[in-house]
Amino acid sequence: MLKAKIAVLVSGGGTNLQALIDAQNSGVIKSGEIKLVISNNADAYALTRAENAGIKAIYISIKELKTQEAFESAVIAALEENGIDLIVLAGFMSILSADFTSRYDHRIINVHPSLIPSFCGQGYYGLRVHEAALKKGVKVTGATVHFVNEIPDGGEIIAQKAVEVMDGDTPETLQRRVMEQAEWIILPQSAEKISENLCRGGS
Ligand code: GAR
Repeated sequence: MLKAKIAVLVSGGGTNLQALIDAQNSGVIKSGEIKLVISNNADAYALTRAENAGIKAIYISIKELKTQEAFESAVIAALEENGIDLIVLAGFMSILSADFTSRYDHRIINVHPSLIPSFCGQGYYGLRVHEAALKKGVKVTGATVHFVNEIPDGGEIIAQKAVEVMDGDTPETLQRRVMEQAEWIILPQSAEKISENLCRGGS
């Protein structure tokens, strides 16, 4: 393939999606192209970011579809319709089933806002991760990009970057620093690395 076709799955503000879009525009991502954004939240600002960038953006409602299985079938249909090669979870706040993850083995990556294996797994998402890090009193935290398998935050690690915790940090100030100094850098770099591998015919 010339370029890997990328789908980004989102649920919220979409700053990581924005970092991916910016990286595509600046040439950091050159082996892949963002073709589709899927949100499981109708109000996600990430949908607006995608539209502003001219990227096809759709909302798939788990409430309307009622079951996780039906939701995942709708996601798979959209991925197939758009010939997607690589799925990037960028603030996607829902755990995908083993059926789904095995279907896209080594083709789903996720960004998590801590240094895995700390503060990860079921129940650790968004601000909760930073609350737990501050409660524990760690002096260094960071972000991890990993492949997604059936174990929440348990797939092979692709990239990590450490970030210092400062005196007086709140979950919000720490979240922002981890995003700026780690997530927005290693997620686009990893998306490029995996896209490049896929273009070469690897996995
Ligand atoms: C990011 O910090 C991301 O790492 C985290 O949610 C935030 C989404 O922000 N993801 C998880 O916790 C997944 N387990 P964004 O919508 O602005 O990219």
